[in-house]
Amino acid sequence: MWDKYLIRPGNKKFLNYFRIKRFIHKAVCPPGAALKSLLKHILNKSELKLEIYQEELLKNNVLKEIYLSAVKKGWVPKKCDSYEDRFSNLFRSSANISWFYALIRELKPKRVVETGTAAGGTTSMILAALEANNSGKLISIDLPSEKGKNTMNWSLPERQKAGFLVPEQYKYRWELRTGDSKDLLVECLREEPCDIFIHDSLHTYEHMIWEYVTAFLNMQDGKIIISDDVLWNKAWLNFITNFDLRSFQDLSNPNIGVTVIKHKE
Ligand SMILES: C[S@@+](CC[C@H](N)C(=O)[O-])C[C@H]1O[C@@H](n2cnc3c(N)ncnc32)[C@H](O)[C@@H]1O
Repeated sequence: MWDKYLIRPGNKKFLNYFRIKRFIHKAVCPPGAALKSLLKHILNKSELKLEIYQEELLKNNVLKEIYLSAVKKGWVPKKCDSYEDRFSNLFRSSANISWFYALIRELKPKRVVETGTAAGGTTSMILAALEANNSGKLISIDLPSEKGKNTMNWSLPERQKAGFLVPEQYKYRWELRTGDSKDLLVECLREEPCDIFIHDSLHTYEHMIWEYVTAFLNMQDGKIIISDDVLWNKAWLNFITNFDLRSFQDLSNPNIGVTVIKHKE
């Protein structure tokens, strides 16, 4: 059930793995290994050139421009002075490129749904992948970020809406629905089939497991669920175990979990 690159949440050993993850990642787990394993599992595809997707992102002037303008205004939460710095940080973790860009480039989903947008860093990467595919749309569900509320340690800049890092050029592929996912997610998943669901909203056990099970029950076999912060508590572990699913986690950041839906007969 568990992928060979998996680090099980709740297993004490994972903490040590986490500390030396960069070393392990370089030594035994080539970048993109977990994504390769997933593509082999669902598409029987063994070729993946992650560097091509990294190059695409580095050369993306639309993302670069909006990122630099947000840095200038002092809006970006984790400030890196250049776009290249920001992306070399991301590249050190092949997990981000794998799950929020390369996977979308490879699977060419028609409809992606995410909960939790905040500044829109991940949102804009997903939209860039859809734009490069020349197909697909993204629906984001978000409560505006406020420091100290809903497990957030950061507030939106004054008078800014969630997703201020989303470039104008990509907005025709994007719909932001403001509200609690507990009120909006079910309808959003039922109104049209969803190919990829991404959880990154409230990281409490109760809320995470509610979103995972809601997505699982409202999506078809072969569709994908991604979650950030799966190591914060045992919600992901219990979800995966209870529904007998397989978890794919990239050693560069095993805190992101990915699974392929398979309902029991
Ligand atoms: C961790 S941040 C999202 C980060 C974003 N995905 C990124 O990669 O930059 C979580 C966001 O979820 C929002 N949120 C928290 N609880 C929520 C809920 N119940 N429904 C919808 N959004 C929620 C927070 O206000 C915040 O904007």
